[in-house]
Amino acid sequence: MVNLETQYLGLKLRNPIIAGSSGLTNSVENIIELEKNGVGAVVLKSLFEEQIHHAASHAIMQDESANLYPEAEDYIRHYTSQNEVGNYLRLIEETKKSVSIPVIASINCISNTEWTDYGHKIEAAGADALELNVAVLPSDPEKGSSDNEKIYFDIARKMTEELNIPVSMKLSYYFSGLAKTFISLSWTGIKGMVLFNRFYSPDIDIEHEEVKSSFVFSTPAEIALPLRWIAMLSPYVECDLAASTGVHDGSGVIKQLLAGASAVQLASVLYKKGFQEIGSMIETLESWMDRHNYTCIDDFKGKLSVAKNDNPAAYERVQFMKHFSGIE
Ligand SMILES: Cc1cc2nc3c(=O)[nH]c(=O)nc-3n(C[C@H](O)[C@H](O)[C@H](O)COP(=O)(O)O)c2cc1C
Repeated sequence: MVNLETQYLGLKLRNPIIAGSSGLTNSVENIIELEKNGVGAVVLKSLFEEQIHHAASHAIMQDESANLYPEAEDYIRHYTSQNEVGNYLRLIEETKKSVSIPVIASINCISNTEWTDYGHKIEAAGADALELNVAVLPSDPEKGSSDNEKIYFDIARKMTEELNIPVSMKLSYYFSGLAKTFISLSWTGIKGMVLFNRFYSPDIDIEHEEVKSSFVFSTPAEIALPLRWIAMLSPYVECDLAASTGVHDGSGVIKQLLAGASAVQLASVLYKKGFQEIGSMIETLESWMDRHNYTCIDDFKGKLSVAKNDNPAAYERVQFMKHFSGIE
């Protein structure tokens, strides 16, 4: 029998498959089903800074007194924010009562001020860890890479200083010095990094000549990007790595573990194929380990990272050449 247990963020997971943050992890009922279907842990839907501000602004617009009395506006803003956060804290508490797998809360933050307060509340509500979903699009022509990177470092340092539960950071690939930045981030006290977040992407409707949202779900080919970076960074970072984006089947899970991930996170595949896909991923992982004579995850984790495989240059190569791609 193979043993699928793994450690992620200092938490013991029965297997390395995590239901990543999405609309599917926003209710206790779904999380109970995810546990029944075999996931090792769950990341709750993120609490968004924008969501709190939007709800507060909406409430203010609805209330005439807010326009007449500035203190009424303050009161409504405060009350609405607390209400949004309160709903999230209830989700954590109810989920913790209902499942035994680790429950990782998630906040989308762009500053390190009010979030430390919410972090404390999330910890008190019983979350096992906190994933910080931080995304700064480097689109401001006035800001250089160090200005943007500072935001990540400030948030990571502040949150890890303040909280006792493990903190991880879910990151994008929009960094000019990605390797140096991520390795330095891993020294701040965070216990893990999730590579990579996948964002809302704009598309253009050519008939109506307008911008629309599109490409909500990933495809299996998108695994290549996190796979490269996990293989290149896993020997050097001082924290765990979780793979996110493009893991759609058991072979995707195995690839990411071989590259050096401690766990994988799923979203699109759960929307597209349903929760029962988790069972077939676990079966694929178990039978592959059996065939390759591995008894536990540590037997092969990172075996194909840049530090350990025979051909590390394969991860560095970026240009297509006939010799390597086989296509003219
Ligand atoms: C509908 C939907 C909602 C999502 N909501 C969140 C969210 O609230 N917070 C977050 O960190 N990631 C969110 N994600 C991103 C996923 O957690 C994941 O990082 C991304 O979809 C890539 O993984 P995948 O290829 O398995 O879909 C969402 C993804 C989808 C498809």
